[in-house]
Amino acid sequence: LLVSASESTGRPMPSTLFGMFFEEINHAGSGGLWAELVRNRGFEAGGPSAPSYIEPWSIIGNGTYLDVGTDRSSLFERNKVALRMEVLCDSTGANICPAGGVGVYNPGFWGMNIQQGKTYNVVFYVRSSGAINLTVSLTGSSGSSLASTNVVASASDGSKWKKVKFLLQAKDTDANSRLQLTTSSKGVIWLDQVSVMPSDTYKGHGFRTDLMEMLLGLKPRFLRFPGGCFVEGAKLRNAFRWKETVGPWEERPGHFGDVWNYWTDDALGHYEFFQLAEDLGAIPVWVFNNGIAHDETVETPLIAPFVQEALDGIEFARGSPSSQWGSLRAKMGHPEPFDLRYVAVGNEDCWKPDYRGKYMKFYQAIKNAYPDMQIISNCDGSSTKLDHPADLYDYHIYSSANGVFSDRHHFDQTSRSGPKVFVSEYAVWKEDAGLGSLLASLAEAAFLLGIEKNSDTVQMASYAPLFANKNDWNWKPDAIVFDSSRVYGTPSYWMQQFFVDSSGGMLLDSKLTTNSSSIVASAISYVSQENKKRYIKIKVVNFGSEMVNLTISISGLDQNSIRSSGSFRTAMMSTNVMDENSFSDPNKVVPIKTLLESAGKDMEVTLPPHSFISFDLLKE
Ligand code: AHR
Repeated sequence: LLVSASESTGRPMPSTLFGMFFEEINHAGSGGLWAELVRNRGFEAGGPSAPSYIEPWSIIGNGTYLDVGTDRSSLFERNKVALRMEVLCDSTGANICPAGGVGVYNPGFWGMNIQQGKTYNVVFYVRSSGAINLTVSLTGSSGSSLASTNVVASASDGSKWKKVKFLLQAKDTDANSRLQLTTSSKGVIWLDQVSVMPSDTYKGHGFRTDLMEMLLGLKPRFLRFPGGCFVEGAKLRNAFRWKETVGPWEERPGHFGDVWNYWTDDALGHYEFFQLAEDLGAIPVWVFNNGIAHDETVETPLIAPFVQEALDGIEFARGSPSSQWGSLRAKMGHPEPFDLRYVAVGNEDCWKPDYRGKYMKFYQAIKNAYPDMQIISNCDGSSTKLDHPADLYDYHIYSSANGVFSDRHHFDQTSRSGPKVFVSEYAVWKEDAGLGSLLASLAEAAFLLGIEKNSDTVQMASYAPLFANKNDWNWKPDAIVFDSSRVYGTPSYWMQQFFVDSSGGMLLDSKLTTNSSSIVASAISYVSQENKKRYIKIKVVNFGSEMVNLTISISGLDQNSIRSSGSFRTAMMSTNVMDENSFSDPNKVVPIKTLLESAGKDMEVTLPPHSFISFDLLKE
């Protein structure tokens, strides 16, 4: 590999190059990054009519002792369903309640992770036909109480909806716990908006800390959200509508995401996505619904309300605190505008009915109001020029490992005039991807090396999907897999760490000198965010099953301008190319960093079969 260290022949890469795409899929947010432990906390998941099902809430006790259902008596206008629990037994008399009382429990999202010493914010709304005497407890899988308190109210006080709020501190740990609300007092009790949040969410912003740490590890430069197909919906009524996801959490209606088939209470809403981007140090990229769902489309002449909704959503993020929607953002805790510079007009809709007609209505209205806004079209202009104006266009690739490996050349011939490319979803999928194989990550690494090379036209790239809760592993593979208490990165996650320094780095001129067609490499120069020192980073993928010896020669440097001390090698490989990480073996395929004993401008290196290696060479 011949590398020219001269920055005059190099090319700066976009500061936005590598980012993240968050979609509410596989319970990524609800039961994932959003730390709420109660599932179906508002009892709305069974639909807006009553009676409705209350799953995953379950009843403690049988029909002799209580009758549990729903009605529409909630104090919240946009989510009227509440739980109605008629208790027929008492602590004395003819029908004595069983020991421990009767009531309901919620197992959360496949078990609540309750940890010793940690505190949990419990909030719920309650009213009653008489006095209230409720025991609220976090209970372990064996039935033992990990934390508990009593909520009492007199008959006169209990008859009106009342907000109850307290902290519970756990005395033991159990990742499969549940929340129980029980009583031994006769009467009718209504419950609504029952929430349990750990009090140690990231910066108090509601994000699960261990999952947030994984995201921070990738130092994403942008965050595309909230989907994907989640934005579209199969039916328009089930699409993500941002206005339904803002304001007090108790008042949000929630919605059923009918593409990925689960209910979300939309606590992770429009505001929280912007907050997430800010917390990650990433520029937000908002994908809005453009009147197109999988099975339905709004006629172009009727698109105006959708255009207004998009404009309002931008005003929510960017408007002054005195503007209509900016004032709501300020009220929610963020008077400063969010740094919204990119919006995408729908997701994968280019070939849906009259995409272009609708797109142009959005484009003109947004450019009129926000001339600097970068607008992303769903139509891929990488092979044929776009027939409509855009700042960027989406490119998605889900393919076999060979397909993704070969696609590293995709943008070599793309026109350099006109809109830039946003590779907003890429991944090896199906056949050889497994649940996240080393092979998949190697193909993706080669693809990203192609993106670095073409980063004069490719401005942004993000892997998809980001998260999977292993209990709803609908789309495989993903970058990060978790359950209530555990998390690991797939090789595709760790592969992205090799590219963290590329955003804003300098792509150096380099030329491969090997005959092997399975080797792909790049050389960049970057300043470390950790120690502020300058490095040359050489990344090499060996996609083949043969070992390859490679000579690396860096020109344009003095003999001693690379320091051995401080230079390091990072390698990702495994005994089998189909190896994956798992909860039981989370570090089977991860990058291993070793210090280099003799780094220099001329190096002979060995590239094992199926490996990804980087050499970070410290410059004097
Ligand atoms: O990433 C999973 C899905 O793949 C996204 O929702 C969609 O945009 C694409 O088809």
